[in-house]
Amino acid sequence: MTLLDRSAPESLRQRSVPVLATERLILRAPCFEDAGTVAALANDRRIAENTLRIPHPYGLADAQSFITAANASDGEIVFLIATRGGSVIGGCGIARLGEQPPEIGYWLGVPFWGQGYASEAVRAVIDYAFGDLGYDALAGGARVSNPASRRVLEKCGFQWTGVGLYRIRALAASAPVDRFRLERRRWAIAREDGHEDGHEVLCSKAGASLSRV
Ligand SMILES: CC(C)(COP(=O)(O)OP(=O)(O)OC[C@H]1O[C@@H](n2cnc3c(N)ncnc32)[C@H](O)[C@@H]1OP(=O)(O)O)[C@@H](O)C(=O)NCCC(=O)NCCS
Repeated sequence: MTLLDRSAPESLRQRSVPVLATERLILRAPCFEDAGTVAALANDRRIAENTLRIPHPYGLADAQSFITAANASDGEIVFLIATRGGSVIGGCGIARLGEQPPEIGYWLGVPFWGQGYASEAVRAVIDYAFGDLGYDALAGGARVSNPASRRVLEKCGFQWTGVGLYRIRALAASAPVDRFRLERRRWAIAREDGHEDGHEVLCSKAGASLSRV
């Protein structure tokens, strides 16, 4: 993972969010111009029903609200996932939900599933959370009916801790979710053993921009 500079006019700046670069992806803060693309990608029941907070149907106004609120508080960090060519393909982030360790979440537009993009993006966010933010642990979750998400977490080193019932907004109901946790120590050992995927970290951190609605 590479941290790249990105600056913005002070008037548009919210929480400082770096740009993370992986082999194939750029992770950056969303901006207002992304709303149409985010709405088009996220308006799919298969995405909404596997995430806690994405509504369905998901329209332009939902994307605008999401972008307006993203990175507005210290409680969460929101990235959009884009290809190196600049095309937005999904989103990911870290949020503090109650007493648990910060929770990692992610989604991709359906045309981009099955190409390893989620694992690549999640690894970059994990490196950022432990390497730059100094977190001690991260939590993750996958509906028990969502083996792809479970696999992403396992590939990234998360360990299963149990099952909980979580409210899924798009279902307007609760559903069982496999819970996972990744300790900083485990992440560090994997890196020392060379199990991490060889990302380079150039710590030139800068504030990323977020245009307001
Ligand atoms: C979950 C999601 C992000 C995965 O994205 P992705 O880019 O396809 O994931 P990756 O390609 O990095 O990894 C998926 C892994 O799951 C595996 N997988 C996919 N479908 C599977 C299935 N039905 N059963 C078992 N494994 C499966 C893939 O083979 C791959 O593992 P591998 O690399 O060992 O072969 C994507 O499906 C998505 O956006 N789903 C809707 C939202 C969601 O579930 N978010 C997660 C909750 S926070």
